[in-house]
Amino acid sequence: MVPLRVGSAWEVNAPAKLNLYLDVLGPRADGFHDLETLMVPVQTYDQLRWSDPSGGSALSRSPLSLRVHASLNRDLLPKANLGSDAENLVVRAAKRLAEVAGVDPWGSFDLFKRIPVQSGMGGGSSDAAAALLLANEAWGIGYSRERLSTIAVELGSDIPFFLSHGAAICRGRGERLEPVSRLPKLHFVVVQPPAGLSTAHVFGQWKQQKISAEESQPNRAGVKDLLESFSRGRLAEAGTRMMNRLESAAAALTPWIERLRLALSRCGAYGQLMTGSGSACFALMRSASHARSVAGQFSGMGLGRVCITSSCV
Ligand code: C5P
Repeated sequence: MVPLRVGSAWEVNAPAKLNLYLDVLGPRADGFHDLETLMVPVQTYDQLRWSDPSGGSALSRSPLSLRVHASLNRDLLPKANLGSDAENLVVRAAKRLAEVAGVDPWGSFDLFKRIPVQSGMGGGSSDAAAALLLANEAWGIGYSRERLSTIAVELGSDIPFFLSHGAAICRGRGERLEPVSRLPKLHFVVVQPPAGLSTAHVFGQWKQQKISAEESQPNRAGVKDLLESFSRGRLAEAGTRMMNRLESAAAALTPWIERLRLALSRCGAYGQLMTGSGSACFALMRSASHARSVAGQFSGMGLGRVCITSSCV
């Protein structure tokens, strides 16, 4: 994510992510869970803009405000949740940065939402990372990305990932990043069903389910095996090695996960999976044209919003 100066304003495209692998290693003393997850940024973007409505007058600086433009999401999201996660996180992130840096927060944010909310695609976290980057520039704070990451992790486990560049294995709460550089360009069909899922709710369900001793063991070889398949260009093998430990918990909360997995398993893809804590599911496609043709077939099936995307390179 690279902020761009546009006149006196600042803008950034905030990408979504897909989790190609997600293991939950166990609960932590702080109430969170230790994870091992492979996250890939994809070319589906929210856009965040910071501007100065006072026209540059330091005397009449406006207090911080946010407008969310979410028309693309309106048809498929629970109204109560429309933009609210992102809204809270954008404003909270910018205010927290101002507090740490000892400046007054000011100016207007405009957030153009295209990433579905409560989908497991990280839209709210990406927006928060975008807010930190824009406010850092607009307010002349000049913190490094590492410094911004220490603020980010207080606000959400996935936000440090969006401050880094490219794919990464994320551990700990999700904030300890190991960059991954060997991935080929990947093409996906993503389906967001009409029902979203809250991350806290899915983790709560995961805790309630009986997890066998084998399942609760750290599965450290798994993500490395998956990366090995990708680096050798063996995408069919990679498709069988993708894994999401939260999927059965999410499936216990909504029938959409099973429905989408079944539908996606029939489209000739290399593999299919739920992303993050859901509720969107994706398929790893053979090519961009395969993705386009399958998305066309899926669009009329009443499964939710269908989109194609590919990994950021
Ligand atoms: O950090 P984030 O705001 O994304 O987390 C939302 C919720 O998901 C947390 O309150 C927690 O219940 C759960 N969570 C967790 N372990 C993680 C990340 C999230 O238990 N590593």
